[in-house]
Amino acid sequence: MTTAPDADTPLHLAGNNAPVTEEVTVEPTWMAGQIPSELEGIFVRNGPNPRTGWSPHYFAGDGMVHAVALSGGSARWYRNRYVRTPLYANPGRSRADLAFDPATATIDYRVTTANTHLLAHAGRLLALEEGGFPYQLTPDLNTLGPYIFGGALATPMTAHPKVCPVTGELLFFGTQLRPPYLTYYRASPAGEILQAQVVETPRATMMHDFAITEHHVVFMDLPVVFDLAAPGGPGWRWSDAHQARFGVMARTGGAVRWFEVAPCYVWHTLNAFETNSIVTLTGTRVSSLWRGGSDDISGGQPRLHRWRLNLTHGTVTEEQIDDEAVEYPRVADTVIGHAHHFGYVTSFSLDAHPSNSRIHRYDFTHSVTRHTHQLPDGHTCGEAVFVPRHSTTSENDGYLLTFAHDRARGTGYLLILDATDVTAAPIAEVHLPARIPNGFHGTWIPTPETPPK
Ligand SMILES: [Fe+2]
Repeated sequence: MTTAPDADTPLHLAGNNAPVTEEVTVEPTWMAGQIPSELEGIFVRNGPNPRTGWSPHYFAGDGMVHAVALSGGSARWYRNRYVRTPLYANPGRSRADLAFDPATATIDYRVTTANTHLLAHAGRLLALEEGGFPYQLTPDLNTLGPYIFGGALATPMTAHPKVCPVTGELLFFGTQLRPPYLTYYRASPAGEILQAQVVETPRATMMHDFAITEHHVVFMDLPVVFDLAAPGGPGWRWSDAHQARFGVMARTGGAVRWFEVAPCYVWHTLNAFETNSIVTLTGTRVSSLWRGGSDDISGGQPRLHRWRLNLTHGTVTEEQIDDEAVEYPRVADTVIGHAHHFGYVTSFSLDAHPSNSRIHRYDFTHSVTRHTHQLPDGHTCGEAVFVPRHSTTSENDGYLLTFAHDRARGTGYLLILDATDVTAAPIAEVHLPARIPNGFHGTWIPTPETPPK
């Protein structure tokens, strides 16, 4: 059941942020609507779930992956599994204690929560967290171990790699707290790392996401810096002295061209693309972050923002494009790095117990229009993942999948919406005899051997 609001329970462990205590494999208890029979595959989502029941920060909980398998118009099973990392194996031990070897002054990147995102590429399913190596999972969510691309990965890996829908290449970066602070990687469609390039930056900044275009990648070097002397111990904090800037580099590497932007933090990019030497990037922006330490949320709520970087003139224009507080921006995987007409986000609230969530679909075709699906009172959800219909050529022709929480029942469900009509009643709800805590990011893994019906 959901933890009752309690003044002694920190926000990140209260309500549906509270961890669950069991790993289960169960069948749904009841359904509403009809699951489209063409949805053949597994919806997976990662998130923090501290094994001890306590963690010092929302981001610090052990990674737990939740999945529902859909086939033939039915939901076959739900299961949740911890990612077996050294932190999981040593509950209560601090990350710094496990990862840092004072004798050699080295950091063991196998020590990670692996709690942020999931990547399906080259036949592998990887659980990602930006401070460590990926962990490879089976489709049944069992942990195989750390995955370092045959030894080619020398740094942590971002939780937000991009797969080019045209070339199948995997593009990503890794950051470290010591030089080299930033390394760029490009891998083949088969998952072989073709390129690893150090990108010179002056200090460690918290770089959570990036973006790609047809020919370029875009890094976000923003003013959340790693400070060994931060109040409360080494950690991330806002720095007015660090110039916010975006760096554009060819996908094949080389020099980075930096564009100074107004101070901000951007957790997530929606997408980016290039037309006529202008790179357009859309993301969720706050005006500052963690000015008073990593529990300070005074920088406000994120809103969709658009930057245009002119590669000919070296100029930048930027604008907030909607006033709604939103997060978890996604586009169809088929348009990543390319011009897009649509985007999908979830409402964002700093309230400890929001009454309900909203999923918004943006249409950028002519201006910016927003259509909204509002969940019932007491129902909240996380990131909505777009899944295309079979054989469609229309960017928006598909479904939105997310895990939701029914506070009154204390249980979770998979929510399936029609992306072409998000305001309509759900296509289906798959209700589960288990609670699914709030989490971060996920993906849809189609079953390749099953032909569409
Ligand atoms: Fe993220």
